[in-house]
Amino acid sequence: MPDETRYAEATDGTPSPRTAVVIPAAGRGVRLGRGAPKALRPLGGTPMLVHAVRAVARARTVSLVVVVAPPDGAAAVRTLLDEHPLPQSAGDTEVIVVTGGGTRQESVARGLAALPGDIDTVLVHDAARPLVPVETVEAVVAAVRAGAPAVVPALPVADTVKQIAPGAPAGEPEPVTATPERSLLRAVQTPQGFDRTILAKAHADAPREGEGATDDAGLVERLGVPVVLVPGHEEAFKVTRPLDLVLAEAVLARRRVTDGF
Ligand code: CTP
Ligand code: MG
Repeated sequence: MPDETRYAEATDGTPSPRTAVVIPAAGRGVRLGRGAPKALRPLGGTPMLVHAVRAVARARTVSLVVVVAPPDGAAAVRTLLDEHPLPQSAGDTEVIVVTGGGTRQESVARGLAALPGDIDTVLVHDAARPLVPVETVEAVVAAVRAGAPAVVPALPVADTVKQIAPGAPAGEPEPVTATPERSLLRAVQTPQGFDRTILAKAHADAPREGEGATDDAGLVERLGVPVVLVPGHEEAFKVTRPLDLVLAEAVLARRRVTDGF
């Protein structure tokens, strides 16, 4: 395996570099509607966050998971994770919990600040993408370890996308300014994988005002560092609106059937 050969020389007492995943889970889930913070809502009877932690911990290369909890919910998240221990297949993956901030960008930055020194590859994975297959996680890790500083799973866009003028009054018809060529557009997912030093610099340099970045690779692009896409997966979709919960439950039900045979 490439990661093992790359670090095989680390026999001089210095610890081998490791891969960590930061899971931002501090959002409220406003678009999902009223209820508990989104990451804590159940899917197939198990909190969404637990699915997400298991999904990334299943990757053999991942040795640490940093969960970024809602500012007032770190203790509840720790309890939840203790109540849902990782399966044996996750090996001895360590899970730590830190508290998040008011934007996704701030939450990820807080997760990065908690990483120990021996981590050289970092993935950032939305708690709101609980069903990502382990193969997607491994493919992102492999691409970073093969030398890409920033790797993003992505899929072609199904709908044609229109650009509009900013500032149209709410409720009024929106004037269209452009129609980007669909074949050149991609919808990006997580986990996004990075060289740890580059992602830390991208977050340190990021503007603090406004909503913050919705995507970590976007911050890396601002540094002029190349970002590459690898194939994403339909099941890595983000649970955003109520209909996404229906789809997630259906995917879980299908997995239960196929795993049963
Ligand atoms: N997130 C976070 N801290 C925030 C905002 C978002 O850690 N202050 C996390 C969410 O928990 C989620 C991921 O970022 O796992 C993607 O964000 P999104 O899907 O927008 O989730 P929410 O912000 O919770 O949802 P909404 O925007 O509908 O409120
Ligand atoms: Mg949000």
